[in-house]
Amino acid sequence: MRFRSGFRRWIGVVLVGFVASVLLSACNNAPSIMEPAGPIADTERGMAWLVFIISAIVFVGVTSVLMYSVFKFRARPDSPAPRQVHGNTTIELVWTITPTVILFILLAITVSTMFALGQPSDPNTITVRAVGHQWWWEFQYPNPNNPSQMLVTADEMHIPLNTVAHIELFSDNVIHSLWVPQLGGKTDVIPGHNNTMWLKATQAGKYRGECTEFCGAQHAHMDFVVVAQPMSDYQAWVASQANLAATPAAGSPEAQGLQVFKSNGCAACHTINGVQGATVGKIGPNLTHFGSRLLIAGGVLDNNTDNLSNWILHAQTIKPAVDMPSFDGSPGSQANISQADLNNLVAYLQSLK
Ligand code: CUA
Repeated sequence: MRFRSGFRRWIGVVLVGFVASVLLSACNNAPSIMEPAGPIADTERGMAWLVFIISAIVFVGVTSVLMYSVFKFRARPDSPAPRQVHGNTTIELVWTITPTVILFILLAITVSTMFALGQPSDPNTITVRAVGHQWWWEFQYPNPNNPSQMLVTADEMHIPLNTVAHIELFSDNVIHSLWVPQLGGKTDVIPGHNNTMWLKATQAGKYRGECTEFCGAQHAHMDFVVVAQPMSDYQAWVASQANLAATPAAGSPEAQGLQVFKSNGCAACHTINGVQGATVGKIGPNLTHFGSRLLIAGGVLDNNTDNLSNWILHAQTIKPAVDMPSFDGSPGSQANISQADLNNLVAYLQSLK
């Protein structure tokens, strides 16, 4: 009786775990290597399926033999003592050699895949520098007008379709890891050790990327988006990033917003190219073309007026421990910003297309 109730409890635990994993995995539309949009993720999906199928065959085979033996040879009230056996060379050889062969096949496929994905032979290449911050991603592109200068953006990486994007990975703080599941594998971003990786998209679209190495309190809120687009769109985007920030019309709310930006110390952390006296802040994202971005706050909020207002007011509530202070008058926040100033500041930032 005790065996049966314990057995039932375990069956219950397994069933609840199974149902929960199925339900919870559908909680958000997290990006998956099972929906690849480029050759690396496509190859990874093939490997994942291969490992899954081999594992499934082994699982079903072993479990079937086990269940058969458990039921067929179970003890009955009138059972005689079982026949005593000692060793079986044939069976021991089979269950040693078979898994060894399977594991070596998987090893060979894994290693050959690693080499195949390590060296892109594609002559069409662009270079992007990705910098991991706590907790957001900065992306830098060579300025086409002045290759010694880098264009700096955040939360959003643009790459041209069917082109190898060679990514140089930098961190000046802790170890992060860059992963765009639908485009490529994970690579660690290590301070003092400049790793590289490559991505390639064969389908236009927006693909979520994330940090996959624990890097502090807001590790889970360190996302970005990769915009894969035709080469002409990509080149137009790079050209637009090379422009200085738009100058607001005198007397407009945007012009007043620029004054709010200057008088609240924002420039200590944020750069806006072309704004006098505000060209040194490097702690926070470069805001020169902020209004054109899809995401803000380290990739965790859509870029719209409400989210930006909330972010400026309550950054420490939305994402505790980030370098961005709150402006809501809460303990430790910067000066309480007025509603009119906030509206003008948001209007200005959103005008920076
Ligand atoms: Cu950066 Cu986790």
